[in-house]
Amino acid sequence: MKINSKEYRTIWFENNIVKIIDQTKLPHIFEIKELKTANDAINAIKIMEVRGAPLIGATAAYGLVLSILENNDQSFLKNSAEGLIKSRPTAINLKWAVDRMMNKLSGVSSDKIFEIALNEAKEICNEDEKFCEKIGLNGLKIIDEIYNKKKDTVNILTHCNAGWLATINWGTATSPIYHAHKKGIPIHVWVDETRPRNQGANLTSFELNEEQVPNTLIADNTGGLLMQRGKVDICIVGSDRTLGNGDVCNKIGTYLKALAAKDNKVPFYVALPSSTIDWDIKDYNDIPIEERDSSELSHLEGLDENNNVKKILIYPKKSKSMNLAFDITPAKYISGLITERGICEASTKGLKKLFN
Ligand code: MRU
Repeated sequence: MKINSKEYRTIWFENNIVKIIDQTKLPHIFEIKELKTANDAINAIKIMEVRGAPLIGATAAYGLVLSILENNDQSFLKNSAEGLIKSRPTAINLKWAVDRMMNKLSGVSSDKIFEIALNEAKEICNEDEKFCEKIGLNGLKIIDEIYNKKKDTVNILTHCNAGWLATINWGTATSPIYHAHKKGIPIHVWVDETRPRNQGANLTSFELNEEQVPNTLIADNTGGLLMQRGKVDICIVGSDRTLGNGDVCNKIGTYLKALAAKDNKVPFYVALPSSTIDWDIKDYNDIPIEERDSSELSHLEGLDENNNVKKILIYPKKSKSMNLAFDITPAKYISGLITERGICEASTKGLKKLFN
């Protein structure tokens, strides 16, 4: 998708270097960052220069390519794989991508390993782009249906950033939005700010602006009132880990939106590629929920009056805070899952029909 009218993907490989768009700098500064070692990739995931479930999976895959370039030795590669899996705990895509790479590389001779690893990392990216596009075409049918009934602007609420910046291209939750926009369906997006890191404000609103999709930023607590007032036709969010029974773990605050949607009979959809499905964990209490540094709550970054980026403390120095990054929306609150293979019920039966 576009930034300053130029097409980008979120990650690419050039001259033995991995290039990323540094998402800690957006929306005020657009900077391409170079990753040269597996540790660079681990760090980029940890400090969220790259973020979003599919993109951190792709970065981990490229992290292994960098590891091979650094030191073409099996035990070094195994260490890198472990470090990458541990870099963030909640999104299953990290483990999915590392396992896929390591399976592909198992038993490969050292003279061929780099080429095979690079091809597989590129394939993970190409596949994600293709799957996100399909998610968009599948989700478009729901937006189309709403528009055909309403014959007026379709208002879509989204949380966090499940946009193209969270994937390789298109996004998951935003892909149906971009497809509807390209088709000429009048749409408007309510963008949850998504405290504490403000991925909605900093990233979703930014990318929708760049694609000229009408959107309005709202504080996280506003969605309920908008739904009561009939101002939201559909909610579409992303997923960091979807259990085989349809429960969805996504950015903190998603659950509250799903509750409000249920109470107001607003359809609540989750868009996800199959790389986000965890077929092993059966009980959502077993999902590791990331707890991030409390400074993400206590400090805010933005532009000062001289257009310089500045970080400020926003609450009492003595206050304690807790920063849980994800929550779980039980399947019973979800109207459907939009995947690359089609739309299904959020249930074991629904998912098994698409992914036998
Ligand atoms: O902490 P983040 O910014 O990595 O969280 C991202 C989300 O919660 C997204 O909704 C999710 O990864 C889906 S991305 C297509």
